[in-house]
Amino acid sequence: MSAPRRMHLGWFMNFTRPAWTTPWVSDAEAREWTDGEYHVDWIRAMERAKLDFMMLEDSSMVSDGFRGTMDADLKHSLYAPKHDPLALAPVLARETRNIGIVVTASTSFYPPFLLARSMSTIDHLSRGRIGWNIVTSSEDRAAQNFGLDTLYEHDARYDRADEFVEVVEGLWGSWKPGALVADRATGTYVDASRVAPIHHEGRFYKVRGPLNTLPSPQGRPVYLQAGGSPRGREFAARHADAVICAAQGVPAMREFRDDVRTRAKAYGRDPDDVKVMFITLPVVAASRREAQQLFEEMQNPSETAVEISLGHMGALTEIDFSTVDPDAPLGDLQTNGHRTTLEKFTGLGGTLREATGRWATRYTNPAFVGTPDEVAAAMAEEFDEVGGDGYLITGGGSRRAIAELTDGLVGSLSDLGRVRRTYEHDLFRDNLLAF
Ligand SMILES: Cc1cc2nc3c(=O)[nH]c(=O)nc-3n(C[C@H](O)[C@H](O)[C@H](O)COP(=O)(O)O)c2cc1C
Repeated sequence: MSAPRRMHLGWFMNFTRPAWTTPWVSDAEAREWTDGEYHVDWIRAMERAKLDFMMLEDSSMVSDGFRGTMDADLKHSLYAPKHDPLALAPVLARETRNIGIVVTASTSFYPPFLLARSMSTIDHLSRGRIGWNIVTSSEDRAAQNFGLDTLYEHDARYDRADEFVEVVEGLWGSWKPGALVADRATGTYVDASRVAPIHHEGRFYKVRGPLNTLPSPQGRPVYLQAGGSPRGREFAARHADAVICAAQGVPAMREFRDDVRTRAKAYGRDPDDVKVMFITLPVVAASRREAQQLFEEMQNPSETAVEISLGHMGALTEIDFSTVDPDAPLGDLQTNGHRTTLEKFTGLGGTLREATGRWATRYTNPAFVGTPDEVAAAMAEEFDEVGGDGYLITGGGSRRAIAELTDGLVGSLSDLGRVRRTYEHDLFRDNLLAF
């Protein structure tokens, strides 16, 4: 019998406070996460468990999407405080050896030259372990921090992103192999014949180049992308090394994966070079009863949890949910923000209150509630039915949760032979594409 297929694993989080309302975070740590040490501990646990990468989400605003004020956002620290993941990356790199580090940066706000230069620098600092979560952003509030009144229209954001990627790839390629000579005999550090401007003039960007950094170990960062709309999928299929997918349930997961692979083929790519990673929020505890109880609490959120959830949804969609009757059926809502997120939310059906309860557990397959061994077995089964390629874990935020998932769940997956036991390569991309 052939060995079981292994899955890739990442963990989705942001550079913010730990899960400070749980009993597993001290008062001191609720305040002092800003020096990066908490995330260092976190990524070390992940590396011990041989995960592919830590993914740091990002946004650039304090949201007033709920009741028109910043109160809910700040009170519950939903979008702020959130520190810059790009600046955290070298700290994490310095404390680890093999795991990938993915930072989010928006094509709507970064100038391409600045992004290309920063990514190249941190790819050097990490010795080839950097990934870029390519996002186009979804909030007018963020756009207003960058000189815009509103965000560009949804599909137009992806048109800009396509050109953005073309520009940064041009810049990363503006130094040919062998450019660095460091030849003492001739006193030549860089061979000027191997470095050239790109003279890009497109619809959205005008960039001369060349880049002023040396080519980095990976050449370019590993690309992650999470577009769920048809335009987003098209972008992902064209560029991404790993696509994050929010679909739940085997048929929807399969549909997404098959669709992205078909689109990738149309771009002349090998579909196996595009890894589809499904978001999951497993609920793991020492006994099934305890896990089940936690799951039920998530499904029946407290008033605070409802406010938190609607605050999030308001920020993502720019819809003020405090104006929607919580006990009336959800009508047709439109957004220029996270379109797929809104469709998924309204698709949960029922009233706003009911949808909010379901939303809290939207990434939890009910079979992924139990002991580490039970959840690992259920994950392996679903994974085989879908056909690949891995999971992006979400949730956590206390050391207890980190241990439950790395030592517990991933330990059980390792016992089943479903995850790597060692990192086989030095570069993040090579480990991601190894199986
Ligand atoms: C797991 C996950 C993480 C995401 N992280 C970010 C992020 O850090 N910043 C951001 O602006 N958008 C983020 N997004 C939003 C996506 O980039 C994208 O806009 C969203 O999935 C909707 O897809 P669509 O724009 O194709 O409709 C994330 C989405 C998902 C599902």
